[in-house]
Amino acid sequence: DWTMAAFRQEMIEKIRAQVGSGRVICGLSGGVDSSVAAVLIHEAIGEQLTCVFVDTGLLRKNEGEQVVSLFRDHYNIPLIHVQAQDKFLGALKGLSDPEQKRKTIGRLFIEVFDEEAAKIDGAEFLAQGTLYPDVVESVSPHGGPSTVIKSHHNVGGLPDYMKLKLVEPLRELFKDEVRALGRELGLSEAFVGRHPFPGPGLAIRIPGEVTPEKVRTLQDADAIYLDEIRKAGLYNDIWQAFAVLLPVKTVGVMGDARTYEDVLALRAVTSSDGMTADFYEFPWPVLGRCATRIVNEVRGVNRVVYDVTSKPPGTIEWE
Ligand code: XMP
Repeated sequence: DWTMAAFRQEMIEKIRAQVGSGRVICGLSGGVDSSVAAVLIHEAIGEQLTCVFVDTGLLRKNEGEQVVSLFRDHYNIPLIHVQAQDKFLGALKGLSDPEQKRKTIGRLFIEVFDEEAAKIDGAEFLAQGTLYPDVVESVSPHGGPSTVIKSHHNVGGLPDYMKLKLVEPLRELFKDEVRALGRELGLSEAFVGRHPFPGPGLAIRIPGEVTPEKVRTLQDADAIYLDEIRKAGLYNDIWQAFAVLLPVKTVGVMGDARTYEDVLALRAVTSSDGMTADFYEFPWPVLGRCATRIVNEVRGVNRVVYDVTSKPPGTIEWE
């Protein structure tokens, strides 16, 4: 007779048995998975846990601040907030190949994280919010044994010289189960219900070169899109909704003036685990409102299109 309350208790005991009196470092990404893992581990071992949040500057609008306030102020969990925005944007300069972008972010993330982890005396364990689908896709992505479709930097990314043992309490769970566990642990619905967000963040939603201006444009447009979805009461019907800033300019007209600006693509899919997905059938007026607001409120965007590709053959992310 399996319940989330029983799972929580069982995991707490497992974590205690695994780490004993050792110190644990947990990498927070800003997403739901690593946050739930951290709260669970904190419940199990309290002050033996230190969280490290590497702020890449590639999160959704305002989400970095939200993570910090949730952990520091609300849960009172020791948190190191690493402001690495400039480092990441600097490293991405001139890169436009998707795998190169992913690898650069993954490598830098580990580097920055490692530097902080080294300062935590006597740490023996590294906690991660790895889920079952992460494990499966990394070993055998999309059914193919040898082709890596996308390198998921949050799995197997531990360098050999870091002699930390892994603590991965969510390894057997799917996303909906992680959310249920988060609720069980007292995290707010607004927080646990958040759509999944990829490790490489907004960098893989800006095809081509990533610049600070593009990141800001995308954050603003994405926030409007999500705001309209919430207002329409559709947020929880959707697995993931996000905007993609295309490296394409088109002609438009604003007042009596010709414009020549970027195209923004909107994506929304339904799914149960991210392995397959269907494009979401929005009511047209909702998409219309998003387009109007984005073009009016976000400088540099003059056209909005909607992606109607399902997975397969498309992936959810564009890179
Ligand atoms: P794709 O684009 O492969 O994405 O259909 C499937 C799910 O995985 C997320 N995703 C990632 N998550 N690190 C992550 O933690 C990554 O590198 C990564 N790449 C994709 C994507 O957002 C979707 O939910």
